[in-house]
Amino acid sequence: MNKINSKGLLTGAIALFLLVAAAVTKAQDIIIPVETKDNALVLQVTPEKALNMVYFGGKLTDRNEYAATAKAFNFGGTIGTYNGAYTTSGTGNLVEPAIAVTHADGNKSLELRYISHIVKKIDDNVSLLSITLKDAVYDFEVTLNYQTYYNENVTEQWSVIKHHEKNDVVLNKYASANLCIHANSYWLKHYHGDWAQEMRPEDEQLNHGMKTLDSKLGSRADLFQPPTFMVSFNKTATEDEGEVMYGNLEWSGNFRIDFEVDPANNLRLVAGINNFAADYTLKPGLEFETPKFVYTLTSKGKGEASRNLQSWARKYKIVDGNGPRLTLLNNWESTYFDFNEDKLAGLLKDTKKLGVDLFLLDDGWFGNKYPRNGDHAGLGDWQANKAKLPNDIAFLTKEAKADGVKFGIWIEPEMVNPKSELYEKHPDWVVKQPQRPEIYMRNQLVLDLTNPKVQDFVFGIVDNLFTKNPDLAYIKWDCNSVIFNAYSSYEKHQANFYTDYVRGLYNVLDRIRAKYPSVPLMLCSGGGGRVDYGALKYFTEYWLSDNTEPVERVFIQWEYSYFYPALTSSNHVTDWGKQPIKFRVDVAMMGKLGFDIVIGKLKPAELEFCQGAVNTYKQFSEEIWHGDQYRLQDPRENDVAAIMYVNPEKTTAIMFNYLVNPRYGAGSNAPIRLKGLNPDKMYTINEVNVFPGTRSTIKEGSYSGKFLMTIGLNPDVHQRRTSVLVSVKAN
Ligand code: GLA
Repeated sequence: MNKINSKGLLTGAIALFLLVAAAVTKAQDIIIPVETKDNALVLQVTPEKALNMVYFGGKLTDRNEYAATAKAFNFGGTIGTYNGAYTTSGTGNLVEPAIAVTHADGNKSLELRYISHIVKKIDDNVSLLSITLKDAVYDFEVTLNYQTYYNENVTEQWSVIKHHEKNDVVLNKYASANLCIHANSYWLKHYHGDWAQEMRPEDEQLNHGMKTLDSKLGSRADLFQPPTFMVSFNKTATEDEGEVMYGNLEWSGNFRIDFEVDPANNLRLVAGINNFAADYTLKPGLEFETPKFVYTLTSKGKGEASRNLQSWARKYKIVDGNGPRLTLLNNWESTYFDFNEDKLAGLLKDTKKLGVDLFLLDDGWFGNKYPRNGDHAGLGDWQANKAKLPNDIAFLTKEAKADGVKFGIWIEPEMVNPKSELYEKHPDWVVKQPQRPEIYMRNQLVLDLTNPKVQDFVFGIVDNLFTKNPDLAYIKWDCNSVIFNAYSSYEKHQANFYTDYVRGLYNVLDRIRAKYPSVPLMLCSGGGGRVDYGALKYFTEYWLSDNTEPVERVFIQWEYSYFYPALTSSNHVTDWGKQPIKFRVDVAMMGKLGFDIVIGKLKPAELEFCQGAVNTYKQFSEEIWHGDQYRLQDPRENDVAAIMYVNPEKTTAIMFNYLVNPRYGAGSNAPIRLKGLNPDKMYTINEVNVFPGTRSTIKEGSYSGKFLMTIGLNPDVHQRRTSVLVSVKAN
């Protein structure tokens, strides 16, 4: 049973839905540890009922000792303490606030005091701590939630804000989480990018003052920067060593993550929806729930942090994380908008010939008054184009069935081209300023998802497709435009728009998932313009980037791999770049394999190779999809990038090696150490995906796990063998 003991420590566990300490009379430094398998985040309630965060790090054996952590660090300074667990504004706190409000009477002060906390044990692994805080002057309260996933060392944090004031309150800032961490130094790795340049990393030391990662782009929010980062404490963590925290805001819109190193050298991390142009008007009695901020912490380096987050994502977040994925042939780069029934029927046959599971029809299949023959018209008119598809989608699902493959389709349901019947019929459904010229990205505008009628329309696009075509097996959901001219003709309070847009999107996705719980959906946004765990909750996979040049791709896939499991990473073999087909396929195989090439143009040996590779992929898909991932050699530090996946039993693994440096003599000039194997087991090493007519040059044979992890294995990568895949199987 959970209870508060005499020293104010929360002890015990098991009981379900148990209320703890509704009111604390002797409020003598109540200590609330939030523990996972290896870590603890410790909260302290002071005698004045302030809630502070006093520790975040490795867990202690004796929970009673957490009480001393509050005194071990210096959280205070010239003007009070800096370690509020959810810092307010307009009263005593003068560091970056987590919350700022304008009360119904116009007053801007807030001071949140501890009222109670409750621990709900959801199952053996998951617990939810909720702490209620209230203002003494205004009828305004916030509940802080900490949901822990014990074995994965993952926590999701969010807050719920409500009030019973006489009139609306405006939330000027409303973060999901506010952490206060103490270390000697802080090293941030974050990402920037643009179209076809996703996930370019930058490392920096966080110095005193503020650093903010944010987006103001609205729908395709991550185009310039994702809400994804890692911070190492005391020194930059390596793959296998060092204290490092990974964070991701589960929100598919404008975000803001502040890192403030305060005067006492604490790192104050405030993560949430971006409050830029987004003062949120909240009616009395309604709850405002922020998105979740998810994080993991480890003292064993980046590799373990990744495995924590990846296991959590597979088990708890993404759709069908423990299930299989469909290999596919896509037609975007092979046909663009130029296709008809005959051509597609041929591609369905090619899908079968190649041996993949599904054919994915991309953009260009819809629009009649304004046919979608380019990117300037048709978006919004989701009826099959009669010239290209006189027999509708049904023709394709029928053909696919006859060929023994599945069929999937591309949509971009949040968008509209001004040249469309939808725009003509419903100009008020479009996000645009009533008195200003329209601004386009890719010739399109965004639909106003705050409007329930628009939500119905968007839901209807998906629902109609599935209802009319029950054999439809897959959807690629795209989102190519940012939001310019943010204005909604539906919203009463314009500043609620950015937040309500994302909520509208989630409403639609909730409805889709309620009706179609497990159908595979790919999350795409002109590449990786919208990759976060808020969206991935509804999807089985995501499109990383329109950049499919395979060397570039090694780098892009590598960086995403820190945060997302490989089975979510849609990697397609295309004609970008000059690399041989083997290299392109080998690169795509490190995630979820797909093709977007003209199969008919492949030489016989190339086709034979691709067919063999699809078989090899199927053989190792358990390891790639659900195994543990170990990054062995970073492409930014080595000529050869190497990564491997091991099954949980440590009996089968696959190792991927790619040459990323074209210079003379570059290659794997020394053995690469494997990881994650059983040192006491003997393993047989074989090269797989060998191109027809060539032979492996690696030292195949039997080695102990100890040998492979101590000495390593040279994949013999060089200019004439630019990619090498190695099978590792216990004898
Ligand atoms: C975006 C996607 C591509 C493709 C095109 C179609 O750019 O990222 O994969 O679907 O749209 O227009």
